[in-house]
Amino acid sequence: MPSPETSPEFEALLDYLKHYQGCDLTGYKRSSLMRRFEHRMRSIKIDSYQCYLQYLQQHSEEYLALLNDVLINFTSFFRDPDAWSYLANEIIPKIIAQKQPNEPIRVWSAGCAAGQEIYSLLLLLAEILGIEACLERVQCYATDADAVAIQQARKGIYSELEISGISPNLLKKYFEQTQQGYVFHSKLRRTIIFSQHNLEKNAPISKIDLLICRNVLIYFNPETQVSILVRFHFALKNTGFLFLGKSEVLVNRREIFTPVDLKHRIYTKGLHLSVEDHLSINPKSFRKPLTDRPLPIQNYFWQAAFESSPNAQFAVDLNGYLIAANEQANLLFGLTLNDWNRPFQDLEPGKLVAAHTSAKITANRRVLLKNIEWNTSQGTQCFDVAIVPVFNHRKQLIGSTLTFVVQGVTVSLEAWQNAGSRR
Ligand SMILES: C[S@@+](CC[C@H](N)C(=O)[O-])C[C@H]1O[C@@H](n2cnc3c(N)ncnc32)[C@H](O)[C@@H]1O
Repeated sequence: MPSPETSPEFEALLDYLKHYQGCDLTGYKRSSLMRRFEHRMRSIKIDSYQCYLQYLQQHSEEYLALLNDVLINFTSFFRDPDAWSYLANEIIPKIIAQKQPNEPIRVWSAGCAAGQEIYSLLLLLAEILGIEACLERVQCYATDADAVAIQQARKGIYSELEISGISPNLLKKYFEQTQQGYVFHSKLRRTIIFSQHNLEKNAPISKIDLLICRNVLIYFNPETQVSILVRFHFALKNTGFLFLGKSEVLVNRREIFTPVDLKHRIYTKGLHLSVEDHLSINPKSFRKPLTDRPLPIQNYFWQAAFESSPNAQFAVDLNGYLIAANEQANLLFGLTLNDWNRPFQDLEPGKLVAAHTSAKITANRRVLLKNIEWNTSQGTQCFDVAIVPVFNHRKQLIGSTLTFVVQGVTVSLEAWQNAGSRR
């Protein structure tokens, strides 16, 4: 097989998966990815990437089998027990202590595989808070890119071998022994929201107190790891904690996370995000050309200018979905990454525009709306809004930008200046 650096056939295979199956594996490290593909190819007696590409094109069921092999989902209850003890003794009590007695506690296991990780955490929380309080206060999210793993996780049924890391008294308290295997406590299980979620692509869950993402980042190249870490920064509350796997090191050259305990890979939020961090988030890099050429300086410059403009700006695609909002727009309308890819008309600025014009946002002509009033609990603001169509190099309409210019602009410029000096 050719080396990872020199395999156009392998890149063609990844290109096919990205464009025809909607599965983008290009952010994964090539060496481990190639090993997994080869493992799968050997099992069906195929010895070249080219032949495997043909096989994938002719056998629709092969795609799922490949994903199962590639997104290897080994896991176990309390994997690395020392780190879990530290979490139970040092971190969970801190999270509880900083809350009001009935305030919700939100946790997210990202890359949860067959669920052992989120059940380990829920079990610890139930031990510390008591089952009743846990049912009332704890909101759990468990996500994975692999749909089969999520189905398994949702069932919460484990074999004798799988539960071997759990002490007999916890097993008795939190599992029911059935003919199918050991089933996790049904009431507690129902507090978990399981969903298929791709860390590279999908918007992060927000206001999280504890984010566990163990043994997942290792599969990604440094650029993708940075972009996922920026999303995690968005996901966590300022007081939240990030718990990574034993063999994972943070690759971000800016310290957006600071270690609480390096040995056990537990971090809190560090520096604020900068424009550069925002730019590393994937929706933008998805629009990169297929070749891995670095972003031309002009593109970089225009992206940065868009992000740091003193006016709130939005980019909306032809279907009316928000595809980008700059920092000023986020500040003004309280938007988060979760709002990206939502219909613009459902968001506050979209409603405001719709109340003042019946024109389609993505049309061939420019529209200027004057003196638009926005009433909020903090008072009334007045904007002029410019809606400008955007065309590609073939002069086809691809969407539009909306710029909100605040009247009495000195006020907004001050806010903008302060935001800049905080960075
Ligand atoms: C080795 S398992 C880790 C399971 C668990 N976190 C643990 O440490 O025991 C890696 C998991 O990451 C998931 N994964 C891989 N790529 C992903 C992506 N882009 N988004 C979300 N999950 C992903 C895989 O499906 C797999 O279940």
